[in-house]
Amino acid sequence: MATSEELHKRRAEAVARGVGSTIPAYVDRAGGGTITDVDGREWIDFAAGIAVTNVGNSAPRVVEAVRAQVERFTHTCFMVAPYESYVAVCEQLNALTPGGFGKRSALFNSGAEAVENAVKIARHATGRPAVVVFDHAYHGRTNLTMALTAKNMPYKHRFGPFAGEVYRVPMSYPLRDGGLDGATAAARSIEMIEKQVGAENVAALLIEPIQGEGGFVVPAEGFLPALREWATAAGVVFVADEIQTGFCRTGDWFACEHEGVEPDLITLAKGIAGGLPLAAVTGRAELMDAVHVGGLGGTYGGNPIACAAALASIETMRELDLAAAARRIGAVMGERLRAIAAGDPGVAEVRGRGAMLAVEIVVPGTSTPDPAATAAISAACHAAGLLTLTCGTYGNVLRFLPPLVISDDELGRGLDILAAAFG
Ligand SMILES: Cc1ncc(COP(=O)(O)O)c(C=O)c1O
Repeated sequence: MATSEELHKRRAEAVARGVGSTIPAYVDRAGGGTITDVDGREWIDFAAGIAVTNVGNSAPRVVEAVRAQVERFTHTCFMVAPYESYVAVCEQLNALTPGGFGKRSALFNSGAEAVENAVKIARHATGRPAVVVFDHAYHGRTNLTMALTAKNMPYKHRFGPFAGEVYRVPMSYPLRDGGLDGATAAARSIEMIEKQVGAENVAALLIEPIQGEGGFVVPAEGFLPALREWATAAGVVFVADEIQTGFCRTGDWFACEHEGVEPDLITLAKGIAGGLPLAAVTGRAELMDAVHVGGLGGTYGGNPIACAAALASIETMRELDLAAAARRIGAVMGERLRAIAAGDPGVAEVRGRGAMLAVEIVVPGTSTPDPAATAAISAACHAAGLLTLTCGTYGNVLRFLPPLVISDDELGRGLDILAAAFG
């Protein structure tokens, strides 16, 4: 087998430079809470493929379901010749997502595609053009979702022009907005929408209940319910992007549940199918069914192998109670992170929920973001065998997203490496 170093050289000649990787190590196998490269080096996994392998890599039920499906048929296209597993995934999503109303779902391939379709559905159902998004938001890399995403580098730089009718308003970001309470922060955003866009022009308000790539920003309590209430009164479709927060990651099936918010539409992907590419829009039946027959779809959307994997993943989450596992991970990790923060004036905040936690790093004694220190800590973790990710508009947030099946021993070892990296 080629070594990681050899593969890295081959890659430089074969793979476009624009596709980056966090570590220059090439994976041989992964499972539980670890990843092993082709040289036999092991990393404790605090990334889960960016919040995807919540049930772990090659989870037994997923492997079994995928194997059985591959032997039966690999693809017919649901738009040509449909099959049961697509319907079953939609039934599961309709039942699992918050909201006691009638729902429908449609399946796609990627998170960005789900977001695009949620916007299509909201525009079609309301007959309105505008979409409201938030500072620090991340919704994907396609043309419309680049417009919806806040951060320029690396996601948008020189990739425009972008889609129109997208309006950005302030997010509740307690560390950086003077600790505005949720209701006040929501009133500020709502006033901007009403004055600058006009509520009657808004099809959808799109928000991550906890922001992912934007820095694991947790809005102040009351922010999401206030926006939900305003959207209802204004006839605006409230869309929760739960692509990173969904499927037990935050200690509930979905992060919106924490404050009892019921979105009109939810976008889902990542953790849905144990690593196979699948995404969904789930929401109110009357909105979803407003679209004409043939208006939604795509060649691979709801591919049968991905659907089999999703059903097995959902079963695994239920069987192992991975929402409770996320809460346990959050409790252990939170305690260690707060201890690190107490001894390090560069840690401005520990935040997040469940197994979606982060620390924001600043120049000690200031609120100035310190992306260089953040990168250095992350690099020290990688060198010592812990896979961590950074994020944030200012690149100064270290985020932790372990698979929810990580063992106590792996979690403890990972946190030891992290503590040592902070010195
Ligand atoms: C909240 C959120 N929305 C959308 C996306 C885009 O998903 P994908 O990369 O599958 O297109 C992501 C990916 O990180 C995300 O975190």
